[in-house]
Amino acid sequence: MDGYWLDWAGLLLRWLHVVAAIAWIGASFYFVWLDNHLTPPQSPALQAKGVSGELWAIHGGGFYNPQKYRLAPPVLPEKLHWFRWEAYTTWLSGMALLAALYFVRPGYLVDPAVAALPQREAILLALGGMLLGTLLYEAVCRLLAGRGGLQAIVPAGLVGAISFSFSQVFAARAAFLLTGATLACWMAWNVLWVIIPGQRRMVAAMAARQEPAAEDGLRGKQRSVHNNYLALPVVLAMISNHYAFLYQQAQSWLVLCGLMSAGVLIRHFFNRRHHGVSDWRLPAGACLLLALLAWRVAPEPVSAPSPVSEGDAVRVQRVLAERCVSCHAARPTQAGFSSPPAGLRLDDQGAIAANAARIHQQVVLSRTMPLANLTQMTEEERQLIARWFGAQAGAEGGR
Ligand code: HEC
Repeated sequence: MDGYWLDWAGLLLRWLHVVAAIAWIGASFYFVWLDNHLTPPQSPALQAKGVSGELWAIHGGGFYNPQKYRLAPPVLPEKLHWFRWEAYTTWLSGMALLAALYFVRPGYLVDPAVAALPQREAILLALGGMLLGTLLYEAVCRLLAGRGGLQAIVPAGLVGAISFSFSQVFAARAAFLLTGATLACWMAWNVLWVIIPGQRRMVAAMAARQEPAAEDGLRGKQRSVHNNYLALPVVLAMISNHYAFLYQQAQSWLVLCGLMSAGVLIRHFFNRRHHGVSDWRLPAGACLLLALLAWRVAPEPVSAPSPVSEGDAVRVQRVLAERCVSCHAARPTQAGFSSPPAGLRLDDQGAIAANAARIHQQVVLSRTMPLANLTQMTEEERQLIARWFGAQAGAEGGR
């Protein structure tokens, strides 16, 4: 597909994806909040109806009084609201976005320095990895149903294993995204295969005037709790893609696991707080973890550059023309690009000088550019950029 239309597809899919995810996670957080704030009803009439908890709230100029039934209401209401299309829309738009960004464009999924895979094989491996990860998760959930803390620890270990495996096969940035996407598959799977079918059986049982199976309620609850704790890590994995300092690391998968753990601690804090327990050790632990990570991934100081020769500025321009301009030009020649990525053109001397710090950051410090080193920049060329930038910074400091 032409790069221009691909950009449009990316924009619209991202928009849809983010809005649907807000609706999904918003509804999910709301129901967890609701569950955690219910109080036993005072009125005997409500108790007699089988209501186990209720609360009062005010929002948008109206009073609300939701009630939760211990099992099910005596009669099925005519209109029952379900929450599922938020989840499906998020998942479908996410998969389409993954394809539009990572599967179609070169340099996103495969990094020859990690594994020199043909694009088609890499796509199959990515899809297969997400599917396998989801089946393993399902198996773990079934085996561990009702086994207390193990239901949290084993899936967490599985996340680590998935994150590690992807980091061994794909470009670091793609590995982060695919790990997040796999967890998002778990969440959507939980809705599609466990929560909704269970609810359908419960409703069918009631229509037939039978007692709904308590098992369906329990299983639905297990998955719904998982989804609640997965939400923050998944969102983090998605936005981490914009921060090269996170994934341009040895053992970047550990960085991702650390970040996700901080998300789980924060979520756990709020879930307990809803119950009136404010355990400040949890957010403190999350902050400590983030501080440790920030210290661990800080870039090494670059050694003092040797003096530049007259020709270096010209050589830099030639190197950038060779290694960067296929993408960073008003009209990129690299397939899949229709406009300069990040709005950055590197085809004239003025733009190069104005963006020296950004170029240095991407080429020398984080080594994210050229993307997946598609244009095969050499080590000497990176050193030339370091020298040139050092001399520029020095000249500015001396002014
Ligand atoms: C295959 C295409 C491609 C090549 C080649 C390429 N880039 Fe990029 N560059 C991108 C994309 C795509 C982005 C947008 C950010 C992203 O998606 O990670 C980007 C973003 C950037 C940014 C902006 C980062 C920021 O937000 O500040 C800089 C700076 C940059 N590239 C420098 C370079 C330099 C210098 C080279 C050559 C050594 C280069 N790029 C080669 C595709 C490319």
